[in-house]
Amino acid sequence: MRTQVGIVGAGPAGLMLSLLLHRAGISSVIIENRSRAYVEARVRAGVLEHWTTELMNELGVGDRLRKEGLVHEGIDIGINGERRRIDFKALVNKTITIYGQQEVVKDLIAARLAQGGEIVFEVTDTAVDRLDGERPVIRYKKNGEPFEIECDFIAGCDGFHGICRPTIPASVLNEFDRIYPYGWLGILSESQPVSHELIYSHTDRGFALFTMRSNSVSRLYLQVDPDEDINKWPDEEIWKELKRRIGPETAAKLQTGRVFEKGITAMRSFVVEPMQFGRLFLAGDAAHIVPPTGAKGMNLAIADVLFLSRALDAFYKNKSTAQLDGYTAKCLNRIWKAQRFSYFMTTMLHLNPNDSEFDHKRQIAELDYVTSSKAASTALAENYVGLPVD
Ligand code: FAD
Ligand code: DHB
Repeated sequence: MRTQVGIVGAGPAGLMLSLLLHRAGISSVIIENRSRAYVEARVRAGVLEHWTTELMNELGVGDRLRKEGLVHEGIDIGINGERRRIDFKALVNKTITIYGQQEVVKDLIAARLAQGGEIVFEVTDTAVDRLDGERPVIRYKKNGEPFEIECDFIAGCDGFHGICRPTIPASVLNEFDRIYPYGWLGILSESQPVSHELIYSHTDRGFALFTMRSNSVSRLYLQVDPDEDINKWPDEEIWKELKRRIGPETAAKLQTGRVFEKGITAMRSFVVEPMQFGRLFLAGDAAHIVPPTGAKGMNLAIADVLFLSRALDAFYKNKSTAQLDGYTAKCLNRIWKAQRFSYFMTTMLHLNPNDSEFDHKRQIAELDYVTSSKAASTALAENYVGLPVD
């Protein structure tokens, strides 16, 4: 098989890249090791930045998003039970949209298949090779039979545990990371959200996040230890602890419901530099991870492939490699700002078990400042709705 851009991974990055390339008249094939049903059911992020929603609409994949997505004009920050609103609309005249990552994935897969695009699911033994030549290849097996795709370029959109990044010689890569002493226990429940907007709540018992997937499904998170045993958290304990981490007035309004998804995620920040090796370009979680506070992961993955698609378009239209050569620098400039913001939100909102009394008092002052100073809350709003992708 032959294509212009071979894409490894059918997550938000790989799928969005194939749609962007199609718009530019560039052919691509996606290979994915999971089944379509699996990737469409994987519960992850839920917040679309302002420009991500616009891009979905621009690409003609925003119909369901416009109907089912919940547009939010701000968030609440809780400080030991007291809720303070950050009004994005008033501060930066932008909004965010709540729409589950698996809904984005469903919409992108449906749109790509409707265009006649090729997505090969349930492959095994994926490998990328000949990266420093003009004809790199992707090899894989499907039902035990070997296949090879000859490409002009390969996009490594295969997530943090994929094979593309580890294929690059270690001597070429610089890795930067930070592990946090926090985990998130997340649930989905059949219950009306406690507030129509998100509440990021810092308390002396730890952090909690009250978000949603629809007007009848809540998504709720509790700060726990990164290696916490989920069996220690029967549903009743989760509800009790959520109520303790939100203040009595809001707790009284918190509706409980059937819990139908439950999991623990550890938190890390990670960046690899450069994001290119020969004709292999890394994008999304394959190149970087952010802690989830601030909801940047999926948006950052989509920003990378937007930059990559522009660079590939410039290459095919006028044989210019300047944008491809500048891909790493262009992405990293925005990635490090998202890392900075995710670090800021994470450390400001969680209770750090290693903090001294001084650190904690400073933290409360920071929460108070961010929610009472117009300059500071504007900076938070500007980052939360998404930095420019020009
Ligand atoms: P992925 O979505 O990981 O997609 C990579 C794809 O490549 C997958 O479909 C995978 O199956 C496939 N793949 C892997 N290896 C191979 C191979 N060898 N061959 C073929 N295919 C392969 N972000 C937030 O903003 N908020 C959240 O609440 C949040 N929660 C998260 C919870 C979890 C458990 C995880 C893991 C991530 C979470 N994130 C969250 C981050 C966000 O979901 C990611 O940033 C986003 O999925 C990145 O998209 P991606 O396309 O780069 O990678
Ligand atoms: C959601 C996840 C996040 O990490 C976040 O910061 C906000 C919302 C969510 O799953 O809805």
